[in-house]
Order: sequence, then C-alpha cells, then structure tokens
Amino acid sequence: MRGLVLTGVGDVEVHDDLPEPTIEEPTDAIIEVTRTGLCGSDLHPYEGREAVRFGVVPGHEAVGTVVALGAEASSAAAIGERVLVPFTTSCGTCSPCRRGLSSRCVHGALFGFGDPDDRSLPPLHGAQASHLRVPLAPGTLVGVPDDLDDAAAVLLTDNLPTGWAAATRGEVGPGQRVAVIGLGSVGLCSLHAARTLGARGLVAVDPVATRRGSALQLGADLGVHPDDAEAAVLESTGGEGVDVAIDASGTLAGQALAARLLGPGGILSIIAVQTEPRFGVTPVQAYDRNLTIRAGRAPVRSLLDDLVPRILDGRLTVPTEVLMTHPAEPLAEGPTWYRRFAAREPGLIKAALVP
Ligand SMILES: NC(=O)c1ccc[n+]([C@@H]2O[C@H](COP(=O)([O-])OP(=O)(O)OC[C@H]3O[C@@H](n4cnc5c(N)ncnc54)[C@H](O)[C@@H]3O)[C@@H](O)[C@H]2O)c1
Ligand SMILES: [Zn+2]
Ligand SMILES: [Zn+2]
Repeated sequence: MRGLVLTGVGDVEVHDDLPEPTIEEPTDAIIEVTRTGLCGSDLHPYEGREAVRFGVVPGHEAVGTVVALGAEASSAAAIGERVLVPFTTSCGTCSPCRRGLSSRCVHGALFGFGDPDDRSLPPLHGAQASHLRVPLAPGTLVGVPDDLDDAAAVLLTDNLPTGWAAATRGEVGPGQRVAVIGLGSVGLCSLHAARTLGARGLVAVDPVATRRGSALQLGADLGVHPDDAEAAVLESTGGEGVDVAIDASGTLAGQALAARLLGPGGILSIIAVQTEPRFGVTPVQAYDRNLTIRAGRAPVRSLLDDLVPRILDGRLTVPTEVLMTHPAEPLAEGPTWYRRFAAREPGLIKAALVP
C-alpha cells in the first residue's frame, strides 16, 4: 500500500510498497482511508521534540470505509460503513473509559506511534496511508453522520473534540472572558468551543497574522500578537485579566503569557501536548493568583458521545471552511505538506491528505 513513513527528524517519505495491514486481533478492523489530517501533534516527532520509533507510518486522524472486521468486531461497524477513527484506541469498558477518559484507556494506544525504547512493543502504524488497522474497534470507531463530509469528519477525529476539551476543562461558561494562545487548528477549535459555550470578550493570540484573521472570522473579539496581548487584555478587562486562558501553543512563552493574562482564581487550560520538562507558569505565579492548571490528552472517543448529537441538532457547528484551508491534497505530496505546515505558511491552517 501507499503510505508516508517518518524516517527521521524532518524526514517524511512516500512509500508505495508498505505491507497492507491485516486483522491481527479479533477486535481489529481494517479501514480504507479516504481522508487523513495533518496535525500539530505530527510536528512534535517531525521536529524532534518527541521521541518515536522511526519507520512508523505517522498520522492519527483518519476517516474511511470499513473493509475488514475481526471475529469480535462486528459490533464496531458494518463492512462498507463510513467511519471516523479517534486518535487513540479505547476499549470502552475499563475504568478510565467508563469515566469518560477514553484517551487514557488502559488498553489503548496512540496511532502513528512506536515506543523508541522498547523494541518488543510493535508500533501502531498511523493514518497517513491507504489502509489503517484499528485495534479495539468496537470501543473506538464512530460512524460518520451522512451530513458530514470527509473534511469535517477529519476535524472530529481530534481537533474539534480537543478544542471542546480545552474549553470545558477551563470551565468556560456564559459571560466568561477567555484568551486563547496559539491559533492553529486546535486553538481555533478551542475558541470556537468557548464561543459556543457562551464566552464573551474572546481574545485570540498568535504571531501569525492570517491565523488571527481566522480567529476573528470565528467570532473572536480581539486578535493580537503575543507582544501586544498583555496590554490588550488589561485594557479589555479593565485591569482584571481573563477568567480562562487556553494554551494551544505548547510553548513556555505561551504559558508564561497565559499566567500574566489570567486574573485571580483563573484557570489555565493547557491543551497543547507537553514536550517540556516544566510549565511556563511558575509555582509562585500559580500561588499568587490562585490559579488552577489543567492539562492532558483529549478523550475524543468519550466526547463524541456528547458532541455528535450536538452537531446533528445544530448546537455545535463544525467550522470546516475556516479551519480546513487545504482539504484534499494528494498523500503522495505529504512530504511537501509537512514542510509547508511546519513553516506555518500564511493562509495554511490545516491540510488533509487523500491516499
Ligand atoms: N491535548 C490533546 O489531546 C491534543 C490533541 C491534538 C493536538 N494537541 C496539541 O495542540 C497543540 C496545537 O496543535 P495545532 O494543530 O493547532 O498546532 P499548530 O502548530 O498548527 O499551532 C500552534 C500555534 O501556536 C502558535 N504559537 C507559537 N508560539 C506562540 C506564542 N508564544 N504565543 C502564541 N502563539 C504561539 C503558532 O504560531 C501556531 O499558530 C499542539 O501541541 C498539538 O500537539 C493536543
Ligand atoms: Zn491531531
Ligand atoms: Zn478502556
């Protein structure tokens, strides 16, 4: 099969001779991928911030058609059904799964990852290929509503539920003042979720001007460069600071800024993957402002139980037009898209690849 392979830091290759995945466990499903997203999380191993096993197929955002089911996977979907695959697998029955924390399923795994230190554990190849093996299919797969096209469905595999997790873990509610730091697809989804949940005085912060423009399109009240954010927030909140700051930049500088923007009792909701050994907020800052800090991987599969009905009855929209700036690019051009995405090319927020 054709797929991308992460061969080293900064090095993604197209291979046409990869073995097609097969059913290995009775709860497996095989998906023929019709669309797969490129995500900020793919950049961590690509840019050397996160160690993975080189040789793995990267990617964790897949939409496709079920082409094979293991003997114990018939409840997952029917052959030929259109499904989306959350970025981690989950059993649906362990304690974290039952508590709505599917991303920490005790049997779960992250697509496109292989432990670089333990060669005895096989990697779980990722979604940026023509076919994908999905372990624990009954607790993982979600049917795609007919109204959602592939580009929108890709946003449900990760970024939109992740943005929802960022806002809800920040306890965002009506009238709250919220700042979002980092306006990639995850930050923009966080902003969209915060607005949907009733936030007011939404401040969007990013050094990339076109991304601030996208935030304004999604209803941000203010789009500012990080250098101007503190003054802008002090002015817009009458010196009080915001109630919730969402860090979707994953940088120490972004978190340090968040601490300065938050008022007393504020919540710092860190949604970016953490690759630094410490937070950008000091214990003294947290103490002096009675801050709450929350972090962690979004439980996409658990959240979709709530979010799909919201989407179907119009309480939540999928902002595909604003986010998916490059919705159907050839997988064979994947290496170019990695380079363009890593460079934060103006006008490019998210690309999805077609195998
Ligand atoms: N928690 C989860 O479950 C989860 C899920 C998906 C993605 N993520 C993570 O979310 C983060 C964002 O993902 P993305 O796809 O939007 O990535 P992205 O790389 O497209 O966006 C990051 C943005 O942060 C901005 N930025 C960098 N430094 C900044 C600073 N000092 N101040 C303000 N903005 C700054 C960049 O310009 C960029 O627009 C990544 O760390 C990704 O791994 C987490
Ligand atoms: Zn992702
Ligand atoms: Zn589980």
